[in-house]
Amino acid sequence: MTGFVPRPQILETPPAYHGALDFAELEQLGLNPDDIVDFSVNSNPFGPSPRVRQAIAAVPPDRYPDRESLALRRALAGRLHLPPDHLVTGNGAAELLWLAAFAFLRPGDPVLILAPTFGEYHRVSSLVGADIHTVRARPEDDFAFNPRLVQSALARLRPRLVFLCNPNNPTGRLLPPDTIAAWVQASPHTLFVVDEAYLAFAASASSVLSLKADNVLVIRSMTKDYALAGLRLAYAASTNPSLVAAVDRVRPAWNVSAVAQAAGLAALADEAYLHRCLVDLQTAAQALKSGLSALGLPVFPSDVHFFLVRVGSAPAFRQALLRQNLLVRDATSFGLPQFVRIAARRPQDNRRLLDAVRGLQIPAQ
Ligand SMILES: Cc1ncc(COP(=O)(O)O)c(C=O)c1O
Repeated sequence: MTGFVPRPQILETPPAYHGALDFAELEQLGLNPDDIVDFSVNSNPFGPSPRVRQAIAAVPPDRYPDRESLALRRALAGRLHLPPDHLVTGNGAAELLWLAAFAFLRPGDPVLILAPTFGEYHRVSSLVGADIHTVRARPEDDFAFNPRLVQSALARLRPRLVFLCNPNNPTGRLLPPDTIAAWVQASPHTLFVVDEAYLAFAASASSVLSLKADNVLVIRSMTKDYALAGLRLAYAASTNPSLVAAVDRVRPAWNVSAVAQAAGLAALADEAYLHRCLVDLQTAAQALKSGLSALGLPVFPSDVHFFLVRVGSAPAFRQALLRQNLLVRDATSFGLPQFVRIAARRPQDNRRLLDAVRGLQIPAQ
């Protein structure tokens, strides 16, 4: 294939590493994907509302979807108290993060990433040739970000864009809006892309959309809380419509399938189901955290249903559980090889995990 060499940034960008099932790995281990109980994804474990299944069954597969997702955007706009042109839909939050980077970043632009965090921020910044800087939260601070360090990085680097995940993946820590407000106000020339994929899982958390800041673009996944990971659905919103218009410009046509749009509308129409799931999940997460702590494992503080646990060797811990059809997220790719991330599931699944962990030989942490 001489003569067709990809751009240097593409060759320099590390491959993606994510949680969820690795089908090739399961095949190698002789495991059946249907038997795996997956604690490595942070989605609503109770699945989508029954109304979603009904709605998607009625979608004609041979008709192109609405390119503008108008009905869905109107429904979302009503909830967010924004006009529909203040939001754009995407094929999952991952696509919108990529589109935001392609819309706003030029090669060499300084980008600040608050880490450890979701790997796609680094990957897309690298693909566009941005100059990547990170401020890392530390285990000794229970993975809370140090606002002073962030403030001084903002002043020193004057980044074109900041990627901020709130609540953060993998730590589950939530930053209060006041802290983010101070950064946003102090850096009016920096675009803050705030990924709120997990906001619904944090009890009574409020969105940074309430800051009404011109330099904030919020990304919201609908694959996590509404359990639509296989369909892919998300939106980006801002009180500044020019940010949304720029993302819309780089959006591929028909990026959100007709099935995903119908599912999103049906999910939004059944908020009572979501509410019940979130309440039950909080109770289940509390029981799982307590159960793991009682087994002597250090469970780190988290504001949501997923959390980090220090286990010694994360790859070994993950492998030992996977042989029992239980999948947890090895946090090595986050730079945390001693940690796994575990997302609570239904109570019966969590009890199974606790029984399996009880049977492992784990050196004291
Ligand atoms: C913080 C964060 N943002 C975005 C995504 C991707 O979400 P989606 O499934 O909507 O593409 C993930 C998935 O793991 C995530 O952890």
